[in-house]
Amino acid sequence: MKPFVVAIDGPAASGKGTIARNLARHFDWPYLDTGLVYRAVARNLVKKQLDQNPRNAVREAKDLSIEDLQQEGLRTPEISQTASVVASIPEVRETLIEFQRNFARKGEGAILDGRDIGTVICPDADIKFFVTASQEVRANRRYQELMSQGEGVTYQEVFDTLVERDLRDSTRKNAPLVQSEEAILIDTSNLNVKQSTELVIAKVELGLRDT
Ligand code: CDP
Repeated sequence: MKPFVVAIDGPAASGKGTIARNLARHFDWPYLDTGLVYRAVARNLVKKQLDQNPRNAVREAKDLSIEDLQQEGLRTPEISQTASVVASIPEVRETLIEFQRNFARKGEGAILDGRDIGTVICPDADIKFFVTASQEVRANRRYQELMSQGEGVTYQEVFDTLVERDLRDSTRKNAPLVQSEEAILIDTSNLNVKQSTELVIAKVELGLRDT
């Protein structure tokens, strides 16, 4: 049987990862955070002290394994920026398509989150969400998160790098971050985790009933 695929896209710190994880727990379906795929390529380049040129990045993308997604240090501000640079290289994205699609072929259901899941990776997903929030709310969330991890950053630095990354992610030529027409918009600016999760679960349950 074809799995029920849930595609969740949205900008940094919009809450999509938290929603996706809670959804995965609720339905007991596997979840792929596709940001980790680009983060792992970036981390492997930095670890090996390689130039971030397309050739090296593609080689790292080809060699990527599921274990690489579980390594430490994938969520530092440095890797967030490098991941977004690496993700703007068309050949890197091309190389990583199958890795992501294979994940969406397994099990009874599959949840993937990222920037281009509903548009490029799983255009036939059974349900699509676009999760967002204002830049101030997102920067504040990321700032709190980094502070709790003991990273020495200011709110202004976090805000500026988030704006820079949003711009790069949404204006790149290849698979930019856009809300697909069929995606259900979830604005989490004024919603807590429980409210946004319940909203998404209710929509998926409706979708499951219709299939
Ligand atoms: O957690 P956060 O939203 O900050 O970032 P992420 O989802 O882990 O993604 C890190 C970077 O990878 C993004 O800024 C994008 O440039 C890139 N990315 C992408 O291009 N396509 C995806 N499907 C997922 C991430």
